[in-house]
Amino acid sequence: MLEMLKKPRSHRSRLMEKDVDEIETRIARIKSERRVKDSRIFEVVEEVFDYQTLMALYKLLNAGVVKLVHGVVAAGKEARIYWAEARDGSDIALKIYLVQAAEFRRGRLMYIEGDPRFKRVRGDKRKLVELWCSKEFRNLLRAHEAGVKVPRPIARRGNVLAMEFVSDPAQRGRPAPLLKEVSLDNPEAAFETIKRYIALLYTKARLVHADLSEYNIMVRGEELVLIDFGSAVDADHPMAVDFLYRDVRNVFAFFSRIGLDVGDPTAFVSYLLQR
Ligand SMILES: Nc1ncnc2c1ncn2[C@@H]1O[C@H](COP(=O)(O)OP(=O)(O)O)[C@@H](O)[C@H]1O
Ligand SMILES: [Mg+2]
Repeated sequence: MLEMLKKPRSHRSRLMEKDVDEIETRIARIKSERRVKDSRIFEVVEEVFDYQTLMALYKLLNAGVVKLVHGVVAAGKEARIYWAEARDGSDIALKIYLVQAAEFRRGRLMYIEGDPRFKRVRGDKRKLVELWCSKEFRNLLRAHEAGVKVPRPIARRGNVLAMEFVSDPAQRGRPAPLLKEVSLDNPEAAFETIKRYIALLYTKARLVHADLSEYNIMVRGEELVLIDFGSAVDADHPMAVDFLYRDVRNVFAFFSRIGLDVGDPTAFVSYLLQR
């Protein structure tokens, strides 16, 4: 799979070669470890690391962001999440957007169209995927700077986003559980925290998540971490208020289902809009 990278040998330094060999060995190990248990992961590895993706990973290696790629920890329709390791040994998550994802263009365009930051949306599928990936990176940065707890964004090359790995405190390399999967010790406090994050996002980062629910909130011990910012839009986006309503309704509905007296979601949105 990495053969393509090896062809123009004169263009590659020895260090690069060593790094690529290391990745290759790792991938081979992941494959042989997983093949028996789950042949799908085997395909996933093949599918994700196309030539352009390898180039993006390669750039992250050379920039010193990534040292090793351990393996897939989550696979969705549009992206895969990998557990990887930085040079300093810390854990990082790589979100690799799939260029082949067929529904990408149709489903996601509405989030980019009308956003003043993304005027040029013409071009091929890869361009759009990379735009999407850079959008998530920038959204994470804005959220992070506004004080919202999100995976700290580290770097972005092509269709690959590197960020802090949100690990399960009980096991390194396993993602912390999602809000929908846990039973909270203190649901009232969690509800207040999420409301605070929604407010900070809107008033300080000037962002609306636009895909917020118990499926995109991770629970790391006592902390709540908002993830999946690819869909987030600028507060000036023509649909921003509609998305804000939907986010707030999702969150209120979840906490209501687990027994909280959540109050009126519309009143909370009105309060946000007046700030
Ligand atoms: N920074 C991260 N650290 C650890 N696990 C993560 C991280 N980001 C995402 N994940 C895991 O990967 C899954 C999918 O990521 P997400 O960004 O929600 O993509 P999708 O668009 O496929 O929903 C999440 O549900 C979570 O389990
Ligand atoms: Mg998600």
